[in-house]
Amino acid sequence: MPSAAINQALWYRRFGPPAEALALEASDIPPLDPGRVRVQMTAAPINPSDLIPITGAYRHRVVPPRVAGHEGCGVVVESADPRLLGRRVLPLRGEGTWQSFVQADPEWTIPVPDEIPDDLAARAYINPLAALLMLEAWPPAGRRVLLTAAGSTCARLLGAWALESGAREVLAVHRSPAHAESLAALGLTPIREDDPKLAAAASIADLAFDAVGGRLAARLLAEMPRRGDLVSYGLLSGEPFLPTPAGPTVHRFHLRDRLEGVSADAWRGWFESLWPRLRTATIPSVRPFPIEYWREALASFDESGRSSKPIFRFAEVDPGPTPP
Ligand SMILES: NC(=O)c1ccc[n+]([C@@H]2O[C@H](COP(=O)([O-])OP(=O)(O)OC[C@H]3O[C@@H](n4cnc5c(N)ncnc54)[C@H](OP(=O)(O)O)[C@@H]3O)[C@@H](O)[C@H]2O)c1
Repeated sequence: MPSAAINQALWYRRFGPPAEALALEASDIPPLDPGRVRVQMTAAPINPSDLIPITGAYRHRVVPPRVAGHEGCGVVVESADPRLLGRRVLPLRGEGTWQSFVQADPEWTIPVPDEIPDDLAARAYINPLAALLMLEAWPPAGRRVLLTAAGSTCARLLGAWALESGAREVLAVHRSPAHAESLAALGLTPIREDDPKLAAAASIADLAFDAVGGRLAARLLAEMPRRGDLVSYGLLSGEPFLPTPAGPTVHRFHLRDRLEGVSADAWRGWFESLWPRLRTATIPSVRPFPIEYWREALASFDESGRSSKPIFRFAEVDPGPTPP
């Protein structure tokens, strides 16, 4: 580690709207904790699941001060095990990833295959793993699947992988008209949220994956067949909804529930399943922002109809003065 290196980190020290609560702070790099590796981050995306806790929505279990960010990719630059030095990894399930250096527990640190580029590796966890586990829990084969927030990364993966797994059709309900063409290119059937055809589409869907909640989820429950299943995995509207007594069965999915008690072997096994799928997946492109431009990155995240995922890039380590 060059002695001149500093850490830049996006902290939130109180709850609030992310643009107000976050601050970029520079600090010296502390000594490495025993049993940890130090990872120099190269890329970390912005996901809704990074922003929601900053607002205080999960205040019963996520409390500031914290560095934000749940996933990303980097290179091991300090380790008691010299074999790990220089390895590209995902430093997960520990410190926030929106910082230049992350101390990580090697047990939960995932090696990245050579052929997976940083910008894809940095997004290999939250959405792909959620999509994989949801499709395992509610197999889509032979069913008509409906997705909400279909322009999102998670819904696109759900839709494409549901078709690969034998879904009869995937109805992709999206908010911005900008998504229709790219959803159709994935083989999905795009439907605008405000299209009068939504009711007819919902009436033939027997498995829905909903990330919006609120009035849209309530409407789906009212229209879907009674024998159907609706999996609620996000509340992008910020509004809850109630199951309807005579409606489809409502299930909740939270990745964090699936992580509780998982063994390190099972954890690594999930990524072994994901890498080949991600190699061939059509996943939205990235829009890179140096971490110093975090405000612009957040503004880009909030643009409805965006076709790319804002992703932070981190400064190179200053190697210090060149020896004479
Ligand atoms: N439960 C879990 O474990 C889990 C795991 C992974 C992801 N998720 C959830 O999956 C969802 C998508 O995450 P992501 O990273 O894939 O998102 P993303 O790629 O950043 O895309 C966000 C999308 O959300 C749409 N959106 C935002 N607010 C909306 C609203 N009120 N109504 C309808 N659409 C809205 C936007 O649509 P437009 O462009 O059309 O405006 C945009 O396409 C989030 O709710 C996230 O929390 C949950």
